[in-house]
Amino acid sequence: MGPRKFVHPALPGILLFLLTFSSIVQSHSNQESQKVDDNDLNDDVEGVSMKLDDYEIEYKTPVPSESVHFYETFDDTDEAKKRWIVSRAQKEDNENVFKYEGRWEFDLPERRIFPNDRALVLHSKAKHAAISAKLDRKFEFNQKPLIVQYEVTFQNGMDCGGAYIKLLSDTKDMKLDEFHDRTPYTIMFGPDKCGSDIKLHFIFRHKNPLNGTFEEKHSKRPSNRVEDAFNDKKPHLYRLVLKPTNRFEVFVDGLLINQGSLLEDMEPPVNPPIEVEDPNDKKPADWDERERIPDDNSGKPVDWDEDAPPKIPDPSAQTPSGWLEDEPEMIPDPGATMPEDWDESMDGSWEAPLIPNPKCEDAIGCGPWTAPLIENPNFRGKWQPPMIDNPNFKGKWSRRKIPNPDYFEDKEPFKMAPIGAVGLEIWTMTDLVLFDNFIVSDKEAIVNEFTENTFNLKTRALERDSRGVIDRIINYSNSHPWLYAVYTIVIGLPVVLIIAFCCGGSQDKKSDPAASTEQDEDADENDQPTRGPPVRENLQRSKHTVTQAAAERTVNNSRVGMSKDDLEQEQPEEEDAEEEGDVEVIDNVEDTDDQETGEVANEQSDESEENSEEVEEIPAEEDEVVLPEPEDPQAAAGLKKRRIRRD
Ligand SMILES: *[C@@H]1O[C@H](CO)[C@@H](O)[C@H](O)[C@H]1NC(C)=O
Repeated sequence: MGPRKFVHPALPGILLFLLTFSSIVQSHSNQESQKVDDNDLNDDVEGVSMKLDDYEIEYKTPVPSESVHFYETFDDTDEAKKRWIVSRAQKEDNENVFKYEGRWEFDLPERRIFPNDRALVLHSKAKHAAISAKLDRKFEFNQKPLIVQYEVTFQNGMDCGGAYIKLLSDTKDMKLDEFHDRTPYTIMFGPDKCGSDIKLHFIFRHKNPLNGTFEEKHSKRPSNRVEDAFNDKKPHLYRLVLKPTNRFEVFVDGLLINQGSLLEDMEPPVNPPIEVEDPNDKKPADWDERERIPDDNSGKPVDWDEDAPPKIPDPSAQTPSGWLEDEPEMIPDPGATMPEDWDESMDGSWEAPLIPNPKCEDAIGCGPWTAPLIENPNFRGKWQPPMIDNPNFKGKWSRRKIPNPDYFEDKEPFKMAPIGAVGLEIWTMTDLVLFDNFIVSDKEAIVNEFTENTFNLKTRALERDSRGVIDRIINYSNSHPWLYAVYTIVIGLPVVLIIAFCCGGSQDKKSDPAASTEQDEDADENDQPTRGPPVRENLQRSKHTVTQAAAERTVNNSRVGMSKDDLEQEQPEEEDAEEEGDVEVIDNVEDTDDQETGEVANEQSDESEENSEEVEEIPAEEDEVVLPEPEDPQAAAGLKKRRIRRD
């Protein structure tokens, strides 16, 4: 080794800085060149931090512990595709005919909370869209309550559009592929917004027992406007409960926001009034409805001049001095001459064009002067006789009441038409409305249990992700330890520099450039192992299951805490990959759907036997990342090696 005693005292500091810096740069370029693997590695790191961060929130597609009339999580895309029927009907609206051409997809949410939690997403805007699914067991209104619940996420917010469901009446000829706006429904329920008009519908169709026709009954507006749900892009839970006691309750995110009686709180009321006005009753000719009348006995006072005008010229005003009353405002232009081609016999006599009178330029005014108008003190207007009480006043006339010929009394409006299917028939100006976790049951406890395993789980995951900023920065730094190097440099570098320039001056001459270069290289070599590429360490840590990795990834994705910029800076390649993946999902739903299910991963193994194990082990999303087929066979081999090493 060189003569170390001549080394500049600041050198170790500067070297440390250079090394850390280069290690950061290198670990970054590693990440860039090995997108796929490093995505996993990031996950690994996230995974560790998440375990420290009591990461125990795990989603498994729930199955209600007792049979329900209907439930749908959309996690099994194949089943959902069979079950949900997209309408091919046309909607007729006066003269116009609209097709139901909205595009529905079974998709992952934009903001993933759980890796395998799929949903139904409306992908089009400004189009009519309708989709529906039959209940497993039709719902009949007997002695048990009806509980209907589902989740909506306005992933892009909502300007104008509905996300309500229709519980379609069970009819013998129910054709779901012809579901349209006039398909009979029993209940319509859910959020709807257009501009500032925000609604949470609860409408049911009531059958008139006299003539069998149906009429819509609307609930009053909820106590709370539930506005946030349209803007915050978070999942929201809508629940309607109808009880055999004719009570209804509407909950949003578990909060009771509307309730009442089907008998008393619906508009128009279920039961018509007992009496109505007799349409044949006529007001008697002598019926005097006038409460007060003019006093005919009083006469107009003699001095009352009805003709006096309301305004008169001010008699005290005088022509202002300097007003040239004799000068016209315009005069014929003295400089003008008749054009030569003017023929007085054809064109009439010629007159010079008018110009502003130059004499008026400096005057206050020219021409006739008129006094300004003032209020006329003698103005009285039309004379009116004073009003007196009408001695013949009989009160306001109204038709007499007769028994309502259409009267009926339905004491059990709860007993609605049986429900056979659940449908969405909507139109929105904003796309990416997400629906999830439908359930129809007559047991509140089962719905609560389902909620616990779906919405509540999701909410907890979201809450955890939005905890304190410091927590998150620490967690994030723990999962990206090189950040500590950055902190060290940012704080340490000024100190090092101060030492270098203040105290190091005397030894400058002794420093040997050759030695320092040598040492530089030395240090580089020596440091290599200790620098410990985080990459390798993580490879060892990466022995975990697919679900873990995927779950951790999701946490990573849904990491709300870091500002978006931070995330983009820190993990640009991952963001990119995600985006690419998403595009794939949208464009080619069938394929990617399949890729994410375990079964199909097996199918894929037929195609590439060698990779079959990895395909199962690697989180499905990795497959979505569009990796160009490596042209360089060595690179391909390298890639594979890395993968195998993981296991
Ligand atoms: C049935 O009765 C209701 C209420 O009286 C009425 O408005 C409706 O027009 C009737 N429908 C038919 C088809 O008679």
